[in-house]
Amino acid sequence: MKLRIGILTASDRSSRDERPDLSGPALAEMAKDKGWDVVETLIVPDDLDILRDTLILWADSGDMDVILTTGGTGFSPRDVTPEATRFVVDKLAPGLSEAMRAESLKITSHAMLSRAIAGIRGRVLIINLPGSPKAACENLQVVAPVLGHAVQLLREDSAAEAGHIPDP
Ligand code: MTE
Repeated sequence: MKLRIGILTASDRSSRDERPDLSGPALAEMAKDKGWDVVETLIVPDDLDILRDTLILWADSGDMDVILTTGGTGFSPRDVTPEATRFVVDKLAPGLSEAMRAESLKITSHAMLSRAIAGIRGRVLIINLPGSPKAACENLQVVAPVLGHAVQLLREDSAAEAGHIPDP
């Protein structure tokens, strides 16, 4: 299934051009490898209002099925991506974040420090991923197999009935 993906990087330093954004491009490459369409990418500061407004704009545009955020899920005072996401979603999708943390804990105990959430706004799934390229890709790898079916369900696609087998 050709998913339409938006990738939103939350990083104060990358938004000021003080550090290259490695996570957004790494996620974009992974998405393209999976045959998905990356329709938007953007770097914004760790700012609650900007994150919230961007998520609303993207989710309500009708241009994307899944929005991946990277960064701002940790414990530093500026980390507010989960709060911005919680503000805009109608429903939480805790299974996705639970699965990501469970798998990540097998790699690093620091996975406990991710406050990432996932949720649904309208027919769009928003998924928080951690900020480092390695962590972001490891986490996306966990949920990638179910995203096609998730989007079928959000679209009320009749093919969803037959799609209860995860994508490889
Ligand atoms: N998950 C995986 N799979 N691999 C990792 O290396 N790093 C963790 C965690 N989740 C990590 C991971 C670390 S060190 C932190 S602080 C949190 O994600 C939050 O990251 P963020 O603040 O960059 O969003």
